[in-house]
Amino acid sequence: MGKRTIVLIPGDGIGKVVLPEAIRVLEAAGFEADYIHGDIGWEFWRKEGNPLPDRTLRLLEEYKLALFGAITSKPKDEAVKELNPELQGKGYVYYSPIVELRQYFDLDICIRPCKTFKGNPLNFIRRGRGGVIEEPKIDVVIFRQNTEGLYSGVEWTNPSQQVYEAFMTHPKMKRYVSVPKEELAISSRIATKKASERIIRTAFEHAKKYGYKSVTLCEKPNVIRETSGMMLSIAKKMAEEYGGITFKKTNIDAQMMWMTKNPEDYGVFISGNMFGDILSDGFAGLVGGLGFACSANIGKDVAIFEPTHGSAPKYAEYRTSIVNPTAMILSACMMLDYINENGKADRIRKAIAKVIEEGKVRTYDMLKMHGSPDVINQGAASTSQMTDAIIEHL
Ligand code: NAI
Ligand code: MG
Repeated sequence: MGKRTIVLIPGDGIGKVVLPEAIRVLEAAGFEADYIHGDIGWEFWRKEGNPLPDRTLRLLEEYKLALFGAITSKPKDEAVKELNPELQGKGYVYYSPIVELRQYFDLDICIRPCKTFKGNPLNFIRRGRGGVIEEPKIDVVIFRQNTEGLYSGVEWTNPSQQVYEAFMTHPKMKRYVSVPKEELAISSRIATKKASERIIRTAFEHAKKYGYKSVTLCEKPNVIRETSGMMLSIAKKMAEEYGGITFKKTNIDAQMMWMTKNPEDYGVFISGNMFGDILSDGFAGLVGGLGFACSANIGKDVAIFEPTHGSAPKYAEYRTSIVNPTAMILSACMMLDYINENGKADRIRKAIAKVIEEGKVRTYDMLKMHGSPDVINQGAASTSQMTDAIIEHL
């Protein structure tokens, strides 16, 4: 097979810093590809009134594979104020380009692995029996439905008369009859059978392929009966096809409590959009936080890989960058897995593991410092020193 072309969409802030670091690692691992730049983010919102220009969509349509850094998002009103003067007052409305990318290309499968690296000072520890300190080894993969649920964007403040009347046909809306329409805000949670089946199937297949002992559906079907309920009934039925895998169900609220009690007892998770977002941030916090949290957005045709962190604008200004490139590099490894370059991905992950275990090169977050340009003087590695160390171990 010929060389692949990968679209690089660095975006804003530290997205522009960490993405080139990941490319350095890919190259050092012997991965050969052509890279093509795609515009996305705040700059294009300000200049063109569109943070996700059509030309970027066309690139993704053509090449189907992308590495994404991060974007800066701001509330609607603030966003409009920052538009270039000639675009002001022309009705441009800001939207999150990453959420748009997920919906435009139907990237309905979001995968977020959270795995302990031995020796990471940020690993979760707890007191066990007799007061001993325990550091459980966590290895979970969260499968988050990425296009529907509470993030489907079907919502209203002061809904139209037609929408209002439709809602009022529901008996539970009785409680709101005396509320003026202008004081009503409604966000809907939409789930489809097809997308639910796809996320659940993908999760079970992943568990089977990688030998995970359990698949846990983390939702809230006892209260959110329709959408969570549908996911549960599909998952229960599908579980019967996977003999060796234990199927469990938990509620998102209780799960957040149990998470620190026995995080080592879980393997693969399935959740809807919002709960998956919460769950994955929660688990990421147990294995090093945003500097380590990687993710994949996968559709039938297009796949985009990105760290879960944002653009951390404050850090993007530093002359020597201090942020941890690991989340971005691990996201690039997920891309390698996706295109069946697992060998290279594993080598990179092993190199990262060695750097962490040795503990000689650590970014400020791993040293539990407050981010500032001065952390370098206090012994923290810069972004590129961290990357160099990983490359050295390859
Ligand atoms: P953030 O993730 O950008 O930063 C939060 C804090 O986490 C930082 O101040 C820093 O202390 C730490 N952090 C983040 N990445 C790190 C790294 N690689 N290494 C070490 N420490 C790291 O989230 P925040 O500050 O809430 O949002 C900043 C901007 O990013 C906003 O405009 C927000 O809308 C956007 N955002 C974009 C996302 C995306 O592109 N997928 C996701 C989350 C936020
Ligand atoms: Mg999130």
